[in-house]
Amino acid sequence: MEELKRAVAREALKFIEDDTVISLGTGSTTAYFIEYLGKLIMEEELEDVYGVPTSHQSRLLAIENGIPVVSLDEVDAIDIAVDGADEVDPSLNLIKGRGAALTMEKIIEYRAGTFLVLVDESKLVERLGQRMPVPIEVIPAAWRAIAEEVEVFNAEAELRMAAKKDGPVVTDNGNFILDVRFHRIDDPLDLEIELNNIPGVVENGIFADIADVVLVGTKDGVKRLER
Ligand code: A5P
Repeated sequence: MEELKRAVAREALKFIEDDTVISLGTGSTTAYFIEYLGKLIMEEELEDVYGVPTSHQSRLLAIENGIPVVSLDEVDAIDIAVDGADEVDPSLNLIKGRGAALTMEKIIEYRAGTFLVLVDESKLVERLGQRMPVPIEVIPAAWRAIAEEVEVFNAEAELRMAAKKDGPVVTDNGNFILDVRFHRIDDPLDLEIELNNIPGVVENGIFADIADVVLVGTKDGVKRLER
């Protein structure tokens, strides 16, 4: 599995040119991409490349690997965004947010000229929600009210608990995450919009209609899916 992640991360480098602003995604697959990108910059094979991190994780990794870091408000445009995903359906709609960075990821990836997604073949599903819950970032004071409210969508919500801290996961933005299991998602774009209409929801992990290219690591090599 790690070798498949490395293979897509290497393939993603073919999309990167000089004079580029790149959004740096979050997660284990993008971590390889950041490592390889840093190497090219350090070896001066790429020039004038800047990274816009989507999380504390990607910011720390970018600095560690020698990638010049800028924030979203310092750039006029994002040329390309590179990030992983938790599920990809046949229309290239995504679920993201296992790493709890979905809000900044969506803010930045929505604005990118090209949004390139890196996954291994285990992430491909026929229907979103098949394996993974949809993470929803919520204002802490509203978590319980929102958990009850999503039940009208035929779903169950669970407050995400931290692994190396007592109590809930707190996002980079100081909010909580609800992991919501839907019995069936028929229209990802419609659900994405409806969830964001609930007061107290900051953002949700359905990324409908925004991925341009998905690179899929398989045992037979890297496959390229396009919308
Ligand atoms: C981070 O919040 C997520 O959206 C990640 O991009 C997603 O979980 C993919 O992570 P992996 O590459 O570690 O599977």
